[in-house]
Amino acid sequence: MSERTLVLIKPDGVARGLTGEILRRVEAKGYTITALKQVSASEEQLAAHYAEHQGKPFYQPLVDFMLSGPTVAAVVEGDRVIEGFRTMAGTTEPTVAAPGTIRGDLGRDWGEKVQKNLVHGSDSVESAEYEISIWFG
Ligand code: CMP
Repeated sequence: MSERTLVLIKPDGVARGLTGEILRRVEAKGYTITALKQVSASEEQLAAHYAEHQGKPFYQPLVDFMLSGPTVAAVVEGDRVIEGFRTMAGTTEPTVAAPGTIRGDLGRDWGEKVQKNLVHGSDSVESAEYEISIWFG
């Protein structure tokens, strides 16, 4: 069944000039980009987006990283796109993400407190709808 997900190209992906490559992979897979914009995230947006991580040791470094530069936000649609995009992204740690995935092919660890792992993808229908409302209103 067709569903939609929120994809973020995080500030490391935008700064490294990987926006086109990441969106190319999304389109080549056969998904449809139905909304797309570049945004400078606010603290309020990030507090809402990362509410489940508040209190964790990487929370503040994560928020600071997300404030460090522009993010590209996209709404992506397709059958099973939530699971499909997370498979394309690879596991959280770029060092061990499988080759062939966005993080595995394009990411690595940078010796910092936060995983600069290029992309975010919603993990459920409920979080997708919540996150789309945060980034697209
Ligand atoms: P994402 O899964 O999109 O959302 C939470 C983010 O927090 C995650 O990507 C990483 O960028 C970061 N993160 C998650 N776990 C850790 C960790 N153990 N150490 C540092 N950063 C993390």
